[in-house]
Amino acid sequence: MNPVFPSILSTSFFDLEAKLCQFEGRDVEFIHLDVMDGHFVDTISFGPSLARSIKDRFPFRLDAHLMVSNPEKAIPHFIRAGVDWISFHAEAAADASVPLRMIQESGRRAGLVLNPDTPLDRLRPWMHAVDYILLMSVFPGYGGQAFIPGTVERAAELRKEIDGTGRPCLLQVDGGINPDHAVRLREAGADLFVVGTYLFNAEDIPETLTRFYNTLQWRRL
Ligand code: DX5
Ligand code: ZN
Repeated sequence: MNPVFPSILSTSFFDLEAKLCQFEGRDVEFIHLDVMDGHFVDTISFGPSLARSIKDRFPFRLDAHLMVSNPEKAIPHFIRAGVDWISFHAEAAADASVPLRMIQESGRRAGLVLNPDTPLDRLRPWMHAVDYILLMSVFPGYGGQAFIPGTVERAAELRKEIDGTGRPCLLQVDGGINPDHAVRLREAGADLFVVGTYLFNAEDIPETLTRFYNTLQWRRL
């Protein structure tokens, strides 16, 4: 699987189609959608109708990162919009079992997200049930923030815990990531990298993407 998940958060809506066109035919499998409700985080981004528009127009699979309170209310809308993977915050769900089940019973992959200051322990009860874990390397709410370096150690610790379960579970990291961070995170055991500003603000997106793959020494088999 392609390890780079471009995040559209920092793009102007007016540029979105043109920018997404630049990812077409470039070995990009997933687009990452940052959904913010103005409650779990201060800001509001976009909802399922944008997901549906992208799905109808482009061949990408979609990964929705729900930064919302009451994820179980939002999830059915994203399922109907055709999103393929859905993650929600452990901090937003006292009992994650209901939203996890909703996602998985619809045939989608379910992820749990952890803020930079939430102890890894918080995931322990759900480790046997999730398909992927999203470790935040910035505090959620905005694109373009600086990568928090301690995330590399957290990723290494989490990788050990995941491997200890003996189940396949992917480790995704999100926030402020450039190719150098991605290399260190991969050495620590991370699988997938959400990349917003570094890609979308690049002068030449295809070339920046190629350099990113080269730094990671990734190529499709
Ligand atoms: C932050 C979002 C991230 C982020 C990625 O709340 O979850 O997806 O915007 O963008 P950059 O790479 O700009 O941090
Ligand atoms: Zn995100």
